[in-house]
Amino acid sequence: MKEEFNPDKMIKVTNERYRQWYHIQTPGGWLNDPNGLCYFKGYYHVFYQFHPYSAEWGPMHWGHVRSKDLVHWEQLPIALTPGAPEDKGGCFSGSAIIKDNRLYLFYTGHNYYDDNDLDHFWENQNMAYSDDGITFHKYAGNPIIKTPADNTQHFRDPKVWEHNGHYYMVIGSQDKENKLGRILMYKSTDLEHWESCGPIIQSHNRDAEGWMWECPDLFTLGNADVLLCSPMGIKSQPEQFMNLSQVCYSVGHLDYQQHRFDGSKFRELDHGHNFYATQTMLTPDNRRIFFGWLSPFNEKMAEQADGWAGSLTLPRELVLEDGQLKNRPVKELAQLRQAGGTKKHLTLNGEAQVSIKDAQHAEYLFDFDDGSLTDFQWSISDQRGSLIKINCQGAKVTLYRRGTQDQYRYATLTAPAKNVHIFVDTSSVECFINDGAASFTERYYATGKVTAAIAAKGVTLDEQAYVLGKGEE
Ligand code: FRU
Repeated sequence: MKEEFNPDKMIKVTNERYRQWYHIQTPGGWLNDPNGLCYFKGYYHVFYQFHPYSAEWGPMHWGHVRSKDLVHWEQLPIALTPGAPEDKGGCFSGSAIIKDNRLYLFYTGHNYYDDNDLDHFWENQNMAYSDDGITFHKYAGNPIIKTPADNTQHFRDPKVWEHNGHYYMVIGSQDKENKLGRILMYKSTDLEHWESCGPIIQSHNRDAEGWMWECPDLFTLGNADVLLCSPMGIKSQPEQFMNLSQVCYSVGHLDYQQHRFDGSKFRELDHGHNFYATQTMLTPDNRRIFFGWLSPFNEKMAEQADGWAGSLTLPRELVLEDGQLKNRPVKELAQLRQAGGTKKHLTLNGEAQVSIKDAQHAEYLFDFDDGSLTDFQWSISDQRGSLIKINCQGAKVTLYRRGTQDQYRYATLTAPAKNVHIFVDTSSVECFINDGAASFTERYYATGKVTAAIAAKGVTLDEQAYVLGKGEE
């Protein structure tokens, strides 16, 4: 079967009420993971898992946007359509690399056996390429890597990088014998032929470390190597790992000779309800940035009734400071600020409204005077009451999201909160505390006008608030 995309069947957005202003989203249809992040011929390229025909997950295409500044995005034609012999059931997540002026995509071909069982599939790794960054050709020699014999059917999400003249790839996997998550590494000199380096790290316990590790990523940051992945199956612990799945990181060392990654125990990269499947890239000025999926997991998304679903997080920078991994919004986002921002220095004992024209498309910054913080809260509300609340009590941060259950998420800082930085878009909130030492990523759905307020007990602070503009071209 030849793969074909039918634009006439594309689902249309029927209501703009939850459409994001400055986050990457589909023109209509379903989105999940960010894929193929790269910088090519003057543009940042971001691809995403895309089902163009409905607002539900379905046969995965790669949607595509590009930007010159990480802020203003232009939708491009679909880059990958499933239906080739090796990706009949979907073009699953993967990554990009540039070699000799050509953009290469690596992606997982997802294939079902013809028995109507969606849990019965095989996966392999494939390549596609483009010289203009717009039209992509699938490589004639696909698949480039088949599922190894000691693996179950879970074998996906290739991430490729270059190191000392060789190309390396990590793949999310599950071993056949113990049914535990692990990461396989492969090595190549030409991107077409890959030799196995075996598993570089694996889960030892289903409940504590997961049974399948999706979306692996491995890179050097400062003087360490960092592993990011999205394990499935980690059991909730008090105030930790409370989502169905979460993005975890480990800081350590990749031994390129022994093919081993040794690192710290998994920790969560973000503490919010809606964060998954991150991917990183290096900017031309050597910053390690990433996007994630503002994921719903087992929840319905209100915008599905309007013909679309999901968006990516803001682009965020990763830094390693004092052995701690921090993530914060990229500096380019300041371009979204519109005239009329406010700045105030105040001592607050009680509640106050944040005076801003459009609280739903806004950036908020709070800097607390040294030693003054005991209790501080920021919230947004609609006509039905609080939507999202963030509370800092010393080093303890608690987030509330409106809902009938599972409203709270938590983080504990290594030092009392010094600053809080928040981005609100039409249906998301991203909150960063202490320059990204902790973050929370949330979707929300408001009815009617949204207002923002702060409340504190004797806290002296600098408050800044900016209305933000649109990021679409
Ligand atoms: C993560 C994931 C990936 C897979 C993709 C399919 O959300 O399950 O492992 O490649 O989504 O859409």
